Amino acid sequence: MEHHVVCVLDFMSLVKSLQRDLTCMGPVWLPPANSEVARFINEIVLDEETDQEFPGEGPGSHFQWYVEAMDEMGANTGPIRELCADLASGTPPVEALERSALPPASREFGAVTFRSLEQPLHVRAAIFLHGREDIIPGMFLPLVRELRAGGLSCELLVGYLERHIEADGEHHGPLARRLLDELCGGDPSRVSAAEQAALEAVEARRALWDATCEALLA
Ligand SMILES: [Fe+2]
Repeated sequence: MEHHVVCVLDFMSLVKSLQRDLTCMGPVWLPPANSEVARFINEIVLDEETDQEFPGEGPGSHFQWYVEAMDEMGANTGPIRELCADLASGTPPVEALERSALPPASREFGAVTFRSLEQPLHVRAAIFLHGREDIIPGMFLPLVRELRAGGLSCELLVGYLERHIEADGEHHGPLARRLLDELCGGDPSRVSAAEQAALEAVEARRALWDATCEALLA
């Protein structure tokens, strides 16, 4: 969890960057170009940022949920809380990550995400689909099984994982795929850029999990 928490945090910057481009976020509202896509991204933000299923009091963000789950497990939340404080004080994300006390692989994963925010919309949509929504159910299902079988006291973590298996698998994944298809519009150069970004996103994830596995074994 100390390694993975960076994904829970940086995901929100990715999803918010999509929301900024797919809906109207300026001071004057104008109708979005595609209402279906706008609704989809708004729905994701609604749950990720302010989920009614949050197990604490009132709605809560999935990040808040995850950090509380870390507390429940006795994981060290100091580095991620310090990173948030550093970001809140205005430090640029990559710089804040570089000097944070998160594990090196987590700092690298976060830096890849934050750098990608400068990429075109279809590239970010590819990272969103292939690096996040599409792979979450397959990553989290075996974890839930193992955690349940292990008899650990980690209800918050299991609840967090199950919430994502349900939301991403049934709903978000297919919509994110349609979003990417629509943004690429069959344009070969866009499709190729999207594929490249998808590969890099999955590679970044693999490197993070490998480092996590190494830390567990050590
Ligand atoms: Fe989430």
